[in-house]
Amino acid sequence: MLIIEGTSGNLIGKGLARLGNFNYAAVESRIFPDGESYIKMPRLDEKSVAIVQSAYAPQDKHLLELLFMASELREHGCDEIVAIIPYLAYARQNKRFEDNEAVGISTLMKLINSSGVDSIITVEPHRYEIMKMFAGKSKIVEMSEAISLAIKNGIEKPVILSPDKGGIERAKKVADITGCSYDYIEKARDYATGEVSAKASVSEDLRGRNVAIVDDIISTGGTVEQAARIAKSCGSNRVIAAAAHLVMANGAYERIRNAGVSELYGTNTIPYNSAKLIDISEYVLRALNELRS
Ligand code: R5P
Repeated sequence: MLIIEGTSGNLIGKGLARLGNFNYAAVESRIFPDGESYIKMPRLDEKSVAIVQSAYAPQDKHLLELLFMASELREHGCDEIVAIIPYLAYARQNKRFEDNEAVGISTLMKLINSSGVDSIITVEPHRYEIMKMFAGKSKIVEMSEAISLAIKNGIEKPVILSPDKGGIERAKKVADITGCSYDYIEKARDYATGEVSAKASVSEDLRGRNVAIVDDIISTGGTVEQAARIAKSCGSNRVIAAAAHLVMANGAYERIRNAGVSELYGTNTIPYNSAKLIDISEYVLRALNELRS
């Protein structure tokens, strides 16, 4: 199999090729003066190809380039095209929260499929059921194990805290692997403003305890901010945060730091300098092997 690093592969393709002993090549790309993307595929001697292209910002550009790459591979006669999309953008618009909203992820999945992609590997999409919107095979890479390891090394005897009810399963998984307890906070989001509010519903006694807030994604930082403030107001000691995807929209880092988060952990699905990042290559390799077995 040939691994092709796309423009936003973030060198995950290189790691994957090294660990899995695959051939490796990077796509050639540039931006035309008017802002359009130029894509040229490397020499294609193999019929099985995996493209690594994460969909972090600028999301639309990276996604369009993925479609260009897949189409070119299909036209070239490749018969197995795997799209490894470490961060899958638009996954949070998985349904209509209000009438007439476009369900972006549904359209995106159709486009990816029609461009020639046979299967997708992605890391913890916001809702796992969105993978059913893709007509081919798919595999989800879970980061609970790696995040637990990072937490174990980073903080002593923590309580794992999910910042919302939807994340309880993740918190439980991480707590089970870490060998500690877990709890959650009730969160509400105002969809008009995007602002987050939370009820201090923690049942664990957090006084003097270390807390690790675990989520799938940190975007504006509002969710983790609320959780950190609650943890602090309940008397916790150190508070750290970990998420698979550090989108970290403008100001998110300062926001969570000001709320008392002392360290941030994430993965390299999105490049980000202010956190300790776990390399996902070996986890992606496992998923790729399972997908192809
Ligand atoms: C929501 O349900 C997700 O799990 C995250 O908690 C959320 O997307 C994080 O967004 P933000 O950082 O903007 O609060």
